[in-house]
Amino acid sequence: MDSEQRFQGGMSEEYTLIHLALPHFEELQGHIGTVIAQHNRPGQSGPLQVLEIGCGDGVTSSFILAARRDLFLTALDNEEEMIKQASERLEPEIVGKRCNLVCADAVDHMTQVASHSIDIVASALTLHNMHHTYRHKLHRELFRVLSPGGLFVNADKYAPQDDGERFDALDVALSRFFEAFIPLGKYDLLKDWVLHNVADQGPDRVMKELDTIQTLRDIGFVDIQMIYRHNMEGVLVARKTG
Ligand SMILES: C[S@@+](CC[C@H](N)C(=O)[O-])C[C@H]1O[C@@H](n2cnc3c(N)ncnc32)[C@H](O)[C@@H]1O
Repeated sequence: MDSEQRFQGGMSEEYTLIHLALPHFEELQGHIGTVIAQHNRPGQSGPLQVLEIGCGDGVTSSFILAARRDLFLTALDNEEEMIKQASERLEPEIVGKRCNLVCADAVDHMTQVASHSIDIVASALTLHNMHHTYRHKLHRELFRVLSPGGLFVNADKYAPQDDGERFDALDVALSRFFEAFIPLGKYDLLKDWVLHNVADQGPDRVMKELDTIQTLRDIGFVDIQMIYRHNMEGVLVARKTG
């Protein structure tokens, strides 16, 4: 299954409204910053190389860049509208040569990245969008590009393994979209987000927590931890053996 573009039109143009439907949005993103701030690279010099998958409007990138001064961020997204918004948000960091934005498909870009050249691959609310075969390819690529001891940190929708719990989490998630968007009269956008959330749970797309941990283990990751959970969302950290 090839790359898709699931954020066209209003979902990109008014992406920032997602904050209203995810009250724990900042908390979720904040964990990425904390993990990056605490990462040690014994015996290494030069800026920490961070690659971000699915930067959207640059909100996660801002948390990454604020985590520490000694890092260089390459942030990618396959939606031009998202890259445009990220360029505006991150302009000082781009001018200051701390950040580079790339409009590209994640797997296409990563196949061009040298093995063992990245210290941290970070992402938020992106990998759950992908079909299983595509996500598996991406997981394997991100393991390859990480340097020994490098980290993968992902704040994303990690669906509960149990289908009953997953259904309850979906119910909560959809209710929040209704509560946030009806008072604003954003009915078309509400419809897009509801259908999008339901499609995320499709059998060939859903990113279940325990299945994903097992996949990462099979690929070779160690110290895999879910350091945060809130309803459907979680923050996963995994390390490439050093
Ligand atoms: C929900 S947004 C997340 C944006 C931001 N990280 C956040 O947490 O708010 C997901 C982003 O991933 C991008 N995306 C999804 N699949 C992608 C792929 N295969 N390659 C590159 N970008 C992708 C989408 O265009 C979208 O901007």
